[in-house]
Amino acid sequence: MGDPASGVIFCNSCSRFFILEPSSQPETAASQCDVLPARTCRAAQRLPCTLEARQNLSLNFCCSTNMLAMETVDKAKELAAQRSLEFVRDGMIVGMGSGTTATHFIKLLGERVKQGLRVRGISSSKASEDLARSLGIPVIDFHQATEIDVTIDGADEVTHKLDLIKGGGGALLREKIVASASKLFVIVADSRKLVERLGKFPLPVEVIPMAAPLVARKLEALGVRPSVRKTGSGDDYITDEGNLILDCACGEIDDPHKLAAEIRAIVGVVEHGLFLGMANIALIASDTDVKEVTRG
Ligand code: 5RP
Repeated sequence: MGDPASGVIFCNSCSRFFILEPSSQPETAASQCDVLPARTCRAAQRLPCTLEARQNLSLNFCCSTNMLAMETVDKAKELAAQRSLEFVRDGMIVGMGSGTTATHFIKLLGERVKQGLRVRGISSSKASEDLARSLGIPVIDFHQATEIDVTIDGADEVTHKLDLIKGGGGALLREKIVASASKLFVIVADSRKLVERLGKFPLPVEVIPMAAPLVARKLEALGVRPSVRKTGSGDDYITDEGNLILDCACGEIDDPHKLAAEIRAIVGVVEHGLFLGMANIALIASDTDVKEVTRG
């Protein structure tokens, strides 16, 4: 991972790369990001949400050798989403993920539904549900069916063994529930997401609000650095289930299974963003082609 001082970040929100410079404007949006203390970027005024800066931080500091232009990244996300449609058949119950890549998938699925494909969707966030309904995709919940044929979702990091970090968009709890009910769990991602080891991306942990300070101390004792996720306006980010997210700076995680078990054992933790042994296939795309990664 490169030195943040000489780094470049990409903001999904305003779709630009930013060159980081020593901060002379501590009040700017980027300098409020706790991952970028005392630093700002040339176009900080155009960075509307510090959350996006944080979510993209690890990927973009380490992308100096793997840098993709914004158009390329979005094209790659769309290509991965397009390929994932091959896993969807008439009559299926489809789990619909959350985030920008999953949004591409839901839009493409909506087009197929308009052309006559009959599917029913179970969504992993209110945002995905609203989008699906707006596109005419019939949406059901676990009262109507408890098994999903295939779920298509994005990820923040993917290893070659298909272990994942998810939750950058804050939907990790419902995403894990939906994934756990799926016969086939397909990840769609651009190639920046493929990593040797998990942990450059801050690990999201969803917690009961009243327990947050207690959970934070216990997480620190595990050697990670948690911070309460904020919205762009500085309020606490609240999940669809009314909880808080602690984004945990971990550094490369030596033993994800051990860390997952330790975090799960903390009372007050609702769920964490380590998805281990859950995904079956990852469709990893550049702007020109899609590589299929299966569990080795
Ligand atoms: C949301 C998620 C997303 O799938 C993950 O953050 C990837 O998002 P994107 O496709 O926008 O890069 O886990 O909670």
